[in-house]
Amino acid sequence: MTLRHDRIEAGRRRLGPALTIMAHHYQADEVVRHADLRGDTLQLARRVQSVDSEHIIFCGVYFMAEAAALLARPGQKVHLPEPSAECSMALMSTAEAAKTVLARLTATGRTVIPLVYGNSTLGVKAVAGAHGGAVCTSANARTMLRWALDQGDAVLFLPDRHLGWNTADALDLPLEDRKVLSLQDDGQGEEEKARLYLWPGFCSIHTRFTTRQISRLRTENPGALVVAHPECRPEVVAGADAVGSTAFIIRYVAEAPAGAVCIVGTEINLVERLAEEHRGRVTVLPLVESACTHMAQTTEECLESCLAAVAEGREDFVIRAPEENREPAKLALERMLSVAG
Ligand code: 13P
Ligand code: SF4
Repeated sequence: MTLRHDRIEAGRRRLGPALTIMAHHYQADEVVRHADLRGDTLQLARRVQSVDSEHIIFCGVYFMAEAAALLARPGQKVHLPEPSAECSMALMSTAEAAKTVLARLTATGRTVIPLVYGNSTLGVKAVAGAHGGAVCTSANARTMLRWALDQGDAVLFLPDRHLGWNTADALDLPLEDRKVLSLQDDGQGEEEKARLYLWPGFCSIHTRFTTRQISRLRTENPGALVVAHPECRPEVVAGADAVGSTAFIIRYVAEAPAGAVCIVGTEINLVERLAEEHRGRVTVLPLVESACTHMAQTTEECLESCLAAVAEGREDFVIRAPEENREPAKLALERMLSVAG
């Protein structure tokens, strides 16, 4: 282990129960090894509410820390070791654009429920909360889409078109009921009667996977099992044996029979960790190496600086939920936690 590793561990010990370090599974090993809690987006959001420590260092991207800050108790501080680590998909929709499109879609008197993937800004979550909608994550998207479809005439799903489309496939929603929005003119002309409107956002890490990669790896590894994240393109999901969130993928590999080859379509840090953990029992291969540069912005060095700030009582890394968005965004998150548990 390095000197930095040891300094961070010593810092953690000094802060004791005043500090909890959380890390998303896509974080690098050098960061994840210092975490008290690891999880996917849903698991980490749920855990925030049961953490007692005064400080939470959240190793992930901005939208995750912002949601954690919203769910944290009064007085509890959430720190993001690299505050500029923004998810590019989350930035593909803005609150203003979401409001404009929603106004357009509801102009004819239809009730359109916004369902917002957790990978979004707090402002977009607030739009959902203020219009009867909710948040969802990749782990509960089916339950939440079914719920949202039951609340009104239609659903506006944003920002990930692929998660929305794949979830509609899982619910057998007819193709003619779906419409991918074109935002060139703020949704003008989108008033036709779809039941599901999909924002045209995407994750550039998961859209790198292709059916060609699946065919090649299946040829090279006859009998291999392919598991993919639902942020992948629909044709990739259709070509996989199983699809699910980060936590699902971890379970899938853990439950694969001894001797199996598992081909995994998700972020490379997680795939390599799974390969290491299951070495000798299951062979884990990436569909292709695809790294999230936003997650990678958080390094062990950033974590050390953040820890020093916490120890010295500085607030350089503290993330706060903007006041004007707090109430409605919290409502959208709480609807998710109450509908999907
Ligand atoms: P989950 O943690 O919900 O699987 O989402 C993956 C992801 O892209 C997080 O940024
Ligand atoms: Fe955003 Fe995709 Fe990276 Fe997740 S993997 S943080 S969705 S860019």
